[in-house]
Amino acid sequence: MDHLGAFLGHFHPVLVHLPIGILLLLGALELAGLLSRARAFAWLPALTGGQRTLILALGACSSIIVAALGWLLAHGGDYDSALVHRHQLLGICAACACLAALAVHRWGSLYALALASSLALVVMAGHAGGKITHGSDYLTSRMPPALARVLGIAPPPEARKAAVGFERAVVFADAVGPILRDRCASCHGPAKGNGGLRLDSWELLSKGGKHGPVIKPGDLAASPLVLRIDLPSDAKEHMPPRGKPQLSDDELTVLEWWVGAGAPRDGAVAGLDLPPIVAGILEERLGGEATPPPDRAATLAQAARVAGELGIIVRPLSPVGPWIEVNARPAGRAFGDRELGLLAPVAPAIRWLDLGGTSVTDDGLAALAAMHGLERLHLDQTRIADPGLVRLSSLRQMEYLNLRGTAVTDAGMGALRALPRLRSLYLWQTAVTPAASRALGEALVDKRRIARWKSEQAELGRRIGAERFEGNTGESLNLDTKPAEAAAAGPASPPKVN
Ligand code: HEC
Repeated sequence: MDHLGAFLGHFHPVLVHLPIGILLLLGALELAGLLSRARAFAWLPALTGGQRTLILALGACSSIIVAALGWLLAHGGDYDSALVHRHQLLGICAACACLAALAVHRWGSLYALALASSLALVVMAGHAGGKITHGSDYLTSRMPPALARVLGIAPPPEARKAAVGFERAVVFADAVGPILRDRCASCHGPAKGNGGLRLDSWELLSKGGKHGPVIKPGDLAASPLVLRIDLPSDAKEHMPPRGKPQLSDDELTVLEWWVGAGAPRDGAVAGLDLPPIVAGILEERLGGEATPPPDRAATLAQAARVAGELGIIVRPLSPVGPWIEVNARPAGRAFGDRELGLLAPVAPAIRWLDLGGTSVTDDGLAALAAMHGLERLHLDQTRIADPGLVRLSSLRQMEYLNLRGTAVTDAGMGALRALPRLRSLYLWQTAVTPAASRALGEALVDKRRIARWKSEQAELGRRIGAERFEGNTGESLNLDTKPAEAAAAGPASPPKVN
């Protein structure tokens, strides 16, 4: 019986348009009838009593059937109960008003009142139903922000995302909420509250689900919200369920940081002590003032001029794109802070910069702040020391840094924590100790991410193992090795990357 109910219930969203159409058509015909009394509209038709009764009877019957189907659907589905109650109430009232109109259709003004109220109720019930299936902000979510302001409606989340930027972003509203909205709210949101859990606002999240709170601030191991995402993707409890869009690594890294950091709600992201990885991800997701990439032709023309003037090598990094490599090493000590300053016109296009063996100083490195795209930097055998490293902290794309043979010390390593992508650091012939270098590495690399990838790798290994086919026709059968042992050894170990 349950199955039949669920089957029939699914017809509600389709058939619901039938009484709506019938009632709207009736309203339009009655209006035409009224207008036809005026001479100018005498050509419009007016309904006869019989036609009116027939249409009303069809409308009333279909609205009762549809209400019954809706009841079946509400019983079988996992919908937000408050929205469903409202929709149900309005739907039933609309059906009753329709019946009332049928009952009083011979009394002009009573009939007009009943018909007008059933039309109004149909519109309201339809809107409430739309909210259930499409979310409460369905109509306004794509509204142009200017119109939303005029109407006093909160700007749609996308508009807010674009508007804030890293510097002004608020922790939950801008950094964490959008991830949950994108990945979870289709099932834990206004339309459905699966597992009794809604994740589309901080208040609802903190209420928890059927089995209680879903986060324990500061304790990842006791927070089902992240534990469930971390489960192997084929586990039954894994979220989002298998086959649905999954979180990216970056999104999960942000969520885990957030729960681990005590699940803060208010306050500026930029004001928190973010681990470098998280800072890098959030800067990218929230965006600062995005600068358009430089123009290739203009850059190369400037580059040729600068190269000739300073006696250095400037080369494009690829046959397309504006990115260039600047090598000042051939100019040697003749290249100093003044010359570095002259690179300003091409600064945004520099990806690789070799200042090795030049006479640049700590102060001169201020010119690097304009080189946002810098990925590789050689400062080996220059006079720079710890104060110069502080000047590098805005170079968020930096992956490679060579400080060989400079005066940097352990004290300067702290400044390098601001470089989330730094993976190769050369410190030979400096005073930096192995311990300080290791400590920097620990801060820059996210161990949880590595652990997660390792477990994904193991899971893939198991899947590959399960698909492996061995056809044994007997000729290679060696009775000394037990096949079970060989199989248990699992897939070949992954290649070592050095
Ligand atoms: C495709 C639908 C779907 C999506 C998307 C989804 N979930 Fe779920 N979720 C469910 C269902 C169904 C349940 C209830 C069954 C269960 O407990 O496994 C559930 C239950 C849960 C529970 C347990 C609640 C409780 O107290 O029992 C948590 C926690 C959870 N989900 C977290 C998430 C998170 C976090 C996301 C987004 C990253 C997410 N879910 C995305 C369908 C979904």
